[in-house]
Amino acid sequence: MLKIAVLVSGGGTNLQAIIDASRNGSLGNTEIVRVISNNADAYALERARAAGIETAVVSRAVNPEPSDYDRALIDAVDASQADLVVLAGFLVKIPEAMVAKYRMRIINIHPSLIPSFCGTGFYGLKVHEAALARGVKVSGATVHYVDEDMDTGPIIAQKAVEVLEDDTPKTLQRRIMEEAEWVILPQAIRLIADGH
Ligand code: GRF
Repeated sequence: MLKIAVLVSGGGTNLQAIIDASRNGSLGNTEIVRVISNNADAYALERARAAGIETAVVSRAVNPEPSDYDRALIDAVDASQADLVVLAGFLVKIPEAMVAKYRMRIINIHPSLIPSFCGTGFYGLKVHEAALARGVKVSGATVHYVDEDMDTGPIIAQKAVEVLEDDTPKTLQRRIMEEAEWVILPQAIRLIADGH
């Protein structure tokens, strides 16, 4: 049984995709044991509670010192006894001590085809604004392992999505979520759960 902790900051649609996949059996032998948010108001926490999953909040408001924050985050993950940590729209950089402790056991979903439009500053709508500004005709999403740098760890899964002529950052973001992120994140978890 692979125990999964999911880290979130926002709406939690990727979390929902994982919960739905878990319910319909497509995550294999796994259990989502805890959802951790840096933001007490994240709607993702509602989704977790509605699914009966334990939640925790580790916020900068309560831990203004970066070292305290890092410690609190690692403690919250340790307490879950998770085998795999899934970053599902988690907007905080993972502390190096946590990367070291959970090496090749933390995965992230990024809304572009890495190595395009990734790294520091490329989050949320900024990714899609940059893709449209560059005029790419194909974008997509990537699931990768997390290492010490931003979006540089080994790639597990990618899915391409067509960019349409009349796309706005919001329409492109939505299509990439629906067609790619919500598909490949559960698939990547399944691969890991199956020992690949
Ligand atoms: C997704 O686009 C994810 O790829 C990015 O942040 C967004 C999170 O959306 N890192 P949600 O909270 O899962 O709805």
